[in-house]
Amino acid sequence: MIKVVAINGSAKMEKGNTALVLAPFIDGMKKAGASVELFYAKRLNVKPCTAEFYCWNKKPGQCHIDDNMQMLYPKLRRAGILVLATPVYIPLPGEMQNLINRLCPLFEPILEFREGRTRARFHAGVNIRKIVLASTCGWWEMGNFGTVLRIAEEFAKDVNAEFAGAVLRPHAYLMRGNGEKVKNVTDALRQVGYELVRKGRMPKKLLEVTGQPLISEEEYRRSLNDDYEKVKNKEKS
Ligand SMILES: Cc1cc2nc3c(=O)[nH]c(=O)nc-3n(C[C@H](O)[C@H](O)[C@H](O)COP(=O)(O)O)c2cc1C
Repeated sequence: MIKVVAINGSAKMEKGNTALVLAPFIDGMKKAGASVELFYAKRLNVKPCTAEFYCWNKKPGQCHIDDNMQMLYPKLRRAGILVLATPVYIPLPGEMQNLINRLCPLFEPILEFREGRTRARFHAGVNIRKIVLASTCGWWEMGNFGTVLRIAEEFAKDVNAEFAGAVLRPHAYLMRGNGEKVKNVTDALRQVGYELVRKGRMPKKLLEVTGQPLISEEEYRRSLNDDYEKVKNKEKS
């Protein structure tokens, strides 16, 4: 049975848009037979990396910081797929960045020149073969994911794992509605999770559905600006 570890970096945890999008994706993976463990970076309360290179130069593969990462490391070593789930917070929530920094003990500094840059690789005992990004953002365009997408892609290259793709849900607030389009997106999220586990890939066609516009850019922008006007007027009165 393939093991999946999913980390949700949202400050809103279970109540956030990212959780809303991640849930059907995880359902699909479970339906395909994966065992999935979900963690919230905020709840793990991960301390920042102290940059002493203890995990590289003193005790390779071990982190000296005694916190919840010590519980997570063995689970990460056993997982075949790592899902990094995060909202765009120009670019990452602090808790998620802390957690990513603390993944250093999983890879070793036997440096290689790969894909145009100096890169490391996971320790032999780390099973993760695929890294997936699941992300939500508040504004309308896919372009808002540029930096976060790059972070996930570069991380996968740095550890010599396959970047298996990204589930990206822009104007994610609208996922709280229950129209036909929202249902199509939710169904596609479930199907993408299923295919990832069964076939090892996330079909482009399905990813287009998960990221499809729910309303026009102009309509969305206008509604956000109207909401803000109401807040300002209330503040004045
Ligand atoms: C500090 C902060 C920065 C954000 N920056 C962006 C941004 O640059 N682009 C964007 O589209 N959305 C941005 N957002 C909106 C979130 O990405 C969006 O609401 C997301 O779906 C929140 O997910 P969550 O509810 O799981 O936290 C930002 C939100 C916060 C709190």
